[in-house]
Amino acid sequence: MEMDVDAVLARAREIQKREMERLVERTSASAALHRRALRSLPDGVASNFQAGDPYPVYLARGSGSHVWDVDGTEYADFHGGFGVNIVGHAHPAIVEAISRAARSGTHFAVSTEATVALAEQICERFGLAQVRLVNSGTEATMDAVRVARAATGRDRIVKIEGSYHGHHDAVLFSVVPEAATLGLRERVSGEAADASGAAYTTPPTSRGIPRSMWNDTIVVPFNDSEAFEGLLAERADEIACLILEPVMMNIGIVLPEEGYLARLRDACTRHGVVLIFDEVKSGATVAHGGAIERFGVQPDLACFAKAIGGGTTIGAFGGRADVMDVVSHGAAQQGTFNGNPLSCAAGLAALTSVLTPDAYTRFAELGTQLASGCRDAIAANGVPAHAVDLAAKGCVSYRPSTLRNYRDFLEAHAELFEATFPWMLNRGIFMTPGDEEQWTLSVQHTEEDGARYVDAFGEFCAELAGP
Ligand SMILES: Cc1ncc(COP(=O)(O)O)c(C=O)c1O
Repeated sequence: MEMDVDAVLARAREIQKREMERLVERTSASAALHRRALRSLPDGVASNFQAGDPYPVYLARGSGSHVWDVDGTEYADFHGGFGVNIVGHAHPAIVEAISRAARSGTHFAVSTEATVALAEQICERFGLAQVRLVNSGTEATMDAVRVARAATGRDRIVKIEGSYHGHHDAVLFSVVPEAATLGLRERVSGEAADASGAAYTTPPTSRGIPRSMWNDTIVVPFNDSEAFEGLLAERADEIACLILEPVMMNIGIVLPEEGYLARLRDACTRHGVVLIFDEVKSGATVAHGGAIERFGVQPDLACFAKAIGGGTTIGAFGGRADVMDVVSHGAAQQGTFNGNPLSCAAGLAALTSVLTPDAYTRFAELGTQLASGCRDAIAANGVPAHAVDLAAKGCVSYRPSTLRNYRDFLEAHAELFEATFPWMLNRGIFMTPGDEEQWTLSVQHTEEDGARYVDAFGEFCAELAGP
């Protein structure tokens, strides 16, 4: 079925306005908490990613696959704490592990047996020789980049256009570049850089990044190994590492094309560049052994966080023993809370008794139920969108065909996502607040949760299509 795009966008704007009014009517406790929060927290939240328009819906509790907001409204949770909660909320095995650990002391800043056991689990699951534990994805990528620089003695790093690796300075370049500030791709593949590397400079995504760092982060597009190889041909001896998400998950979901990761692997090996996979989102969600297992390419270092901690604060990075060796020889890698007993107990319970191979069979079934239900609704109503299905992760992206890289992500009608978000929230689906995010399933999600999502989305598509 074909759509009249202008008419659809007009209807999307009407839906957004109406659903936002309805959201405001039914969330007065969130509005009140927001007013109070504004006094002590910038924007009334603990992280910029938690801010929302006109205010965030504040949660009170979660159980299983459901959450309740401070107004007492229940939702099926597809937000999943930005991809953390694939064990679901208050899973008995996790509650038991944390309670047991808490009764034995919550913190020592000394490694315990749980620290060692968790490190062993992570190494085995993702094929790493050694790992260090940290407290977030940001710390994991920050430390991995430092280790790569220390191991190679080189300063510059390469990242992918439009990718997010946390909020430390080195990776806050080209995170969500506006179309007008793109251009690096042409420079990388064409114009030669001057001796200072100025042709590769890109403005940072955040204020507060020192100018002295602007030349040290170089950007190449995803799914374009030639751009990366062209860059290495010019200046491999300056480049410590390539850091990338093996499957991009900060612009919906963008899969690596056949052979792309293997070609990067080969180029990095030939030029002595450390290949870092940022598996903060993909690790433990897209397969038992993360993207490393799913796509069959082993990086030199990999970064983890989110889902490996059973819902607690954690991160980890590791890989080749000879690269990790710099940690024992002058590369700073430390932290008071690293290997905290509560996080280790929860992570261990999650990885050993909840996120078993069977859990991934279940994620595949539920994910396919969701994605195919959404695809049917998209096709029946001619909505310019597509659905992606990747085990515990998946998304609807408001672009007619699958994406190859960040530039494809820019080609969207923002109105469509802006209308979906309050629509789904008002129908009991708790969602991530950005077009760049995905749904996250948990082992506690049911077919009924999936059906609730598909029904709400189907009604949205029908409403968009109009009478
Ligand atoms: C791919 C990726 N890397 C790193 C991070 C940073 O992790 P954290 O928010 O735990 O610092 C994120 C967060 O969303 C991420 O998606």
